[in-house]
Amino acid sequence: MSAEQEKQVAAVAAAQLVEDGMTVGLGTGTTVAHLLDALAARGLTGIRCVSTSPATEARARELGIPTEDFGAVDAFDIAIDGADQVAPDFWLVKGGGAAHTREKVVAASAERFVVMIDSSKTVEAITAPIPVELLAYGLSATLRRLGDTELRDVPHSPDGGVIADYRGEVGDPAALAARLSGTAGVVEHGLFPPAMVSAVVMGRGDEAVWLERR
Ligand code: A5P
Repeated sequence: MSAEQEKQVAAVAAAQLVEDGMTVGLGTGTTVAHLLDALAARGLTGIRCVSTSPATEARARELGIPTEDFGAVDAFDIAIDGADQVAPDFWLVKGGGAAHTREKVVAASAERFVVMIDSSKTVEAITAPIPVELLAYGLSATLRRLGDTELRDVPHSPDGGVIADYRGEVGDPAALAARLSGTAGVVEHGLFPPAMVSAVVMGRGDEAVWLERR
């Protein structure tokens, strides 16, 4: 099975968690594209969705999934998203698609945050690159203080942030997350803590496996 097929298997399993009338946070990326297909196929009624990127919003609209501005919703029953790396203790790296800031705000506002991955995304330990979104103001000074950080050749985020990747040592993800969060000029980073993660479903071949946190 290809990674794409495994993403679809995971997405179909995650879509089963959504029930009529729920408020749903929609992540960003190729796995979320499969989630949108699976949600549309379920024909749910009364769900209220918020997208974390223009790409998700456009695809949801094409499929007839109603989306709203985040301003109209202040909490989610569930948020569902992909990830770039999942460690055994459920530290995640996100932001390969540059949407980690919005994704983190949505995940933090959800009663349950469910992560869908293909089998290539599990790692024994988190490693660089760690995506970061930076304020354009004072950018070169922020890069200098961060160290080991390269600008990514992509457009600014929809919120005007500059996308870059921290490529230094990771070590303890909690310590690095605290350092990144404590660096003035860093809008958000792509390390998501285990406390934020309710469940991880992985496509392995044609089977959806719900991972145990270790
Ligand atoms: C978007 O910025 C990311 O956080 C994605 O959720 C992550 O990169 C996984 O993307 P894929 O589902 O495309 O692998």
